Amino acid sequence: MLTLVLTVLLTVALLLYYGTRKPRGFPPGPPRLPIVGFLPFMDSHLPHKQLWRLSSTYGPVVGLYFGVQPAIVVNGWDANKEALLNDDLNGRPTGSSSTIPFDGKDLGVMFVNGDLWKEQRRFTLHQFRNLGFAKKSHEVIIHEVAEELIKDIKQSQCSITLQNKLGVCSIIILWAVMGGARLERSDPLLTDLVDRLNKLFRAGQVSGGFVEVFPPLRHILPETSPFNIVLNGRYRILSYLRNAVEEHKATHDPDNPRDFIDIYITQIKNEHNNSDSTFTEDQLLATCFDVFSAGAETGSSSVSFAILLMILYPSVGQAVQRELDEVVGLSRFPSVDDRTKLVYTEATLAEISRFRGVAPFTVPHYAVRDTILQGKRIPAGTMVMNNLYSVHMDPEYWKDPDTFRPERFINPDGSLRKDEHLIPFGKGRRACLGESLARMTLFLMFTTLMQHFNFRLDPAIPVFDTEGKSGFTLGPPDFNVFAEPRS
Ligand code: HEM
Repeated sequence: MLTLVLTVLLTVALLLYYGTRKPRGFPPGPPRLPIVGFLPFMDSHLPHKQLWRLSSTYGPVVGLYFGVQPAIVVNGWDANKEALLNDDLNGRPTGSSSTIPFDGKDLGVMFVNGDLWKEQRRFTLHQFRNLGFAKKSHEVIIHEVAEELIKDIKQSQCSITLQNKLGVCSIIILWAVMGGARLERSDPLLTDLVDRLNKLFRAGQVSGGFVEVFPPLRHILPETSPFNIVLNGRYRILSYLRNAVEEHKATHDPDNPRDFIDIYITQIKNEHNNSDSTFTEDQLLATCFDVFSAGAETGSSSVSFAILLMILYPSVGQAVQRELDEVVGLSRFPSVDDRTKLVYTEATLAEISRFRGVAPFTVPHYAVRDTILQGKRIPAGTMVMNNLYSVHMDPEYWKDPDTFRPERFINPDGSLRKDEHLIPFGKGRRACLGESLARMTLFLMFTTLMQHFNFRLDPAIPVFDTEGKSGFTLGPPDFNVFAEPRS
């Protein structure tokens, strides 16, 4: 009996000693609880605000633990700029639940490191550009998608959920580059994918949550748990992509590539004698998944937030419509060539991405070797949460960050004011791979909707909290709109 009591006491003492210790010189932060670290105290509603608040006690770089995983939260412009430009902090955490469908292998472009990441990111970007990604030919596709959306909205008999309709648009636009074939808006598969992606993004947690830290937990979780919603969504989307790759293989002609999947299949064939090649079918699937998931939900959330803000700040919405009427009129769709003349509209889009950026954090980074940030020692293996919200809402820099004011992006001479403190797509070598397409899509979809409709909230779905819903990203609150045609 005495032995048992001593063993328990010793175990508790060791747990308290090792489970609460932090490495020497680790940035200051809240106390570390054994096993769970800071996780029980995480605010799942708006974690970017909570983790920024910690800075007032601990400084711009806050050290804490997610379970047993050491992490830092980087707040404010100076610290974020230094962190994002430090390549020692540009890794990604590996071995997360995203590896489960690939037998534990880290694949794709988003959660990989080193040469695999460099090669795959370079190849993906290069081929996307060759395929007209974010170029004039892509504008044609976005216009077609926008035209169908306008028709669809005009036919709606009741109020509509923009997020779902825009999600369908985002997928069609992305798929045009990746999978070539033109998807039909009415395809129920498309609605299912949008629904899965929306649920997946809201159920996810930027810190990874308990299951990422204690993977065996997943075997006892119910199907309805956020972890399983994310995992099942991932499997569903991968199964769709797998079918598409099989169809491409069956009709593959290396001399006439139709899209990214065709080009990638050719690359796999070209490298089949190279045992070190990173080009494999699983890698293709994972890359398509990363692009699909990173691009679809962020795109629809950005435009939804933009329209919601135009309803909440009607004088801004009216000024945007006045400018669109003057520069574009109602007889044609807005084009990227109009952008230089649409200064107020561009300033409004900049303010929307500052005020309600859909990525309040970057994708988590990871210290690949020991380094220094803001004079603090960051050990290799530390997870890094770059808090973009803290950069965009810092009162020291923006003066009145809680006021929605597009004019802050307009110079006294009436020209557009670019501001390096606005970084909705991140900064440095890990910055968003789809930035140019995302900017183009956001501009064209937003301006086309504003050109065609006056929006009004459906009072049946009151919006009490306009700050949005967290998850992997920040999604808009639930809201429905009535869309009254302007012509
Ligand atoms: C409004 C829309 C979007 C926003 C606000 C956004 C924002 C971001 C941010 C903040 C990051 C993380 C940067 C970092 O970790 O330092 C990121 C990464 C990424 N984004 Fe986007 N994104 C958007 C749309 C897109 C689109 C349309 C695509 C695909 C075509 C895309 C593909 C990616 C990929 C693949 C990464 C990971 C890059 C890497 O790890 O090398 N994103 N995005």
